[in-house]
Amino acid sequence: MIHYKTKEEIEIMRHSCLLVGKAHAEVAKVLKAGMTTMDVNNIVEQFIHDNRATPSFKNYHGYPAATCISMNEAVVHGIPGSHILKEGDIISLDIGVYKNGFHGDSAYTYAIGEIQEATRMLLKVTKESLYKGIEKARPGNRIGDIANAIQEYTEKMHGYGVVRELVGHGLGRKMHEDPQVPNYGKRGSGQKLKEGMVLAIEPMINLGTKDVIHLSDGWTILTKDRKPSAHYEHDVCITKGDPDILSSFEEIEKAERANKNLTWSHG
Ligand code: MF3
Ligand code: CO
Repeated sequence: MIHYKTKEEIEIMRHSCLLVGKAHAEVAKVLKAGMTTMDVNNIVEQFIHDNRATPSFKNYHGYPAATCISMNEAVVHGIPGSHILKEGDIISLDIGVYKNGFHGDSAYTYAIGEIQEATRMLLKVTKESLYKGIEKARPGNRIGDIANAIQEYTEKMHGYGVVRELVGHGLGRKMHEDPQVPNYGKRGSGQKLKEGMVLAIEPMINLGTKDVIHLSDGWTILTKDRKPSAHYEHDVCITKGDPDILSSFEEIEKAERANKNLTWSHG
């Protein structure tokens, strides 16, 4: 069942979604080689608590942490721990917050120090594909139009692998609401988009094969060929006018550009 949001509910949601961006920016300011993934998680968790919000992921179906941190060949759902970040790594950080009855959910992939050119392109194209998808998030279009735009750009134009097993989703009082938002599909297929829908659109794109495997920790998903994978996620409200992106990368990108220990992936 799809939950359409009122204008008042959207403004409450916007607050949750923007808080996720600010949590990301706290990390982007200080991220560097030598930190552990748990250090990164703790910055986010502290920030969420300081803002009187709750991390959406913690205890979700038994998930043990506030964030998902997926390094290099990890696609999503990596569990923070003692892994030490090093120059050349990419780190996909996925954050969810719950505040005032609504969730915000946003992911971003960072590059630690100098990374390989092919990997930098993967980050750039994956982020661009997110905006190609968002551009289709308009009343009268269908879920398949969003999905197809992401697939065409990443798979057809750049030869990347689009993960099939994981999808975006509706977002609201629950972190996962209907409908599912795949990153692959046919134009004109699927649920019709209507004003008041909020979608978490989240391309998960692999440099090599689209195939993934599940790690024995029960959570982490890796690329089958162990090549890198990127993940960017925005929360988008369908309106009569242009798509309303409730989350924001603005502060993240500002911090990313200013942090000399990171590669600005669009440079
Ligand atoms: N952020 C993920 C999503 O967009 C959910 C994280 S799964 C969890 O669907 F178990 F870690 F919470
Ligand atoms: Co999500």
